Amino acid sequence: MKNILFVASEAVPFIKTGGLADVVGSLPKCFNKEEFDVRVILPKYLSMPWHFTERLEFLAYFYMDIGYQSKYVGVFKLVHDGITFYFIDNEGYFGGPKPYGDLKYDLEKFAYFSRAALSVLPVIGFKPDIVHCHDWQTAMVPIYMKDSFRGGEFYQNMKSILTIHNLKFQGVWDIETIQGITGLSDYYFTIDKLKVKEDANLLKGGIAYADYVTTVSETYAEEIKTPFYGEGLDGLMRARSNSLCGIVNGIDYNEYNPETDDKIDFKYNAINFRKEKFKNKTALQQQLGLEVNKDKFMIGIVSRLTDQKGIDLVAYIMDEMCSRDDIQLVVLGTGDAKFENMFRYFDWKYSNRVAACIYYSEEMSHKVYASCDAFLMPSLFEPCGLSQLMALRYGTIPIVRETGGLKDTVVPYNQFESTGTGFSFTNYNAHEMLGTIDFAKYVYYNKKREWNKLVDRAMAADFSWNKSAERYANLYNWMLSW
Ligand code: ADP
Ligand code: GLC
Repeated sequence: MKNILFVASEAVPFIKTGGLADVVGSLPKCFNKEEFDVRVILPKYLSMPWHFTERLEFLAYFYMDIGYQSKYVGVFKLVHDGITFYFIDNEGYFGGPKPYGDLKYDLEKFAYFSRAALSVLPVIGFKPDIVHCHDWQTAMVPIYMKDSFRGGEFYQNMKSILTIHNLKFQGVWDIETIQGITGLSDYYFTIDKLKVKEDANLLKGGIAYADYVTTVSETYAEEIKTPFYGEGLDGLMRARSNSLCGIVNGIDYNEYNPETDDKIDFKYNAINFRKEKFKNKTALQQQLGLEVNKDKFMIGIVSRLTDQKGIDLVAYIMDEMCSRDDIQLVVLGTGDAKFENMFRYFDWKYSNRVAACIYYSEEMSHKVYASCDAFLMPSLFEPCGLSQLMALRYGTIPIVRETGGLKDTVVPYNQFESTGTGFSFTNYNAHEMLGTIDFAKYVYYNKKREWNKLVDRAMAADFSWNKSAERYANLYNWMLSW
């Protein structure tokens, strides 16, 4: 049996702010249980739903030295869906209303979490062969493993993987502060290690020290070696290219299944969607006060409303797109105030065509995936993207920009060969996007059979975890053969 430990700052169903939580919550379930014992360690956030918190089993507590301080570490356990989850308890750090807040404090909190995640292992009696970390919040783990934990017999031969879900967020602050928080010596703060310009960069350190680095799609793994996508770390990504690969994300096919989904009004499948799927659309039109018309071309967006997601492109053509009476747009998202207010404004201006749902709701997200005809995701960059996979699963045709995981998962429609699962455009240009939306709209209204065949192919595409979990398993096995 090989032991794998996931260390992450969020995981469904306990706490979620984005796709990272979906991955960390669903991937561990997809390994062969005879071969791998995959466990997950998370912070015990006070903001976690009470029905989970009340079921946690207390295991132990101790005090841990970090920087110049000695900090309380509690550890709890919960077995959920066959996977063992551990939770690090320190209410001083994890007591706030949401997982992330002020960056400086987050740096301290996740340096603490990373060190605690390693320190508890002998206490709980779980000895991983591989520690698999995710994003900057846990990028300190590979550094600590090569630093203060290296001498301990318990930690001998333990290997580390760092998966980059988003290179944009790196955990950067001035060296003095980071040194105080982490307790790392001067040795680590040189340009080949954590230092970037005059600052310290936790993700950079993690990438430099992890035994292997992955990211969440093959295209993004290539893109981040270039200055445009590299967020200042493209040189390091190139330097580590022999220990870097992209493995595309999957989604939980039980959680996202139009045939069994209790969050949607009318269930359907790949055979009966022609007769059933539109019932979700009319129900949502009614609920959101849009014109109720089963034939209207309805586009959905479920997204963080930030620059990453291409929302400025949407803003640029909103008036032009929505002034025509042949389109409806449903937006579910939160983020930058300028984008939230932009959608609120168009909801007011085109009240029977545009619905702006500026909040976070799992249930509403499933309704949007199920109800719309098309799903718009014109990202500036996209490490993988899960929303387009969810849309495909619900037979809702993605319209995407060809970048990162969007490029790897959406096959552009070819009208001559009748192939493809979606529509895509290349340049980050609002009118190139609008032209693509117009083409999709044309196919929807004028070539209904072709549209339905697109839906057939979208629903037949397989983005369950099967293949990608196998790639991770192969990676683990290969690393354990070193
Ligand atoms: P990212 O992690 O960059 O935000 P992904 O596409 O990988 O993008 O994952 C986004 C996840 O967050 C999906 O599960 C999506 O359904 C969900 N999501 C985003 N915004 C909302 C929202 N307002 N309400 C509910 N779910 C949302
Ligand atoms: C990040 C990325 C997104 C990816 C998700 C899960 O949030 O922005 O593209 O799908 O992580 O890996």
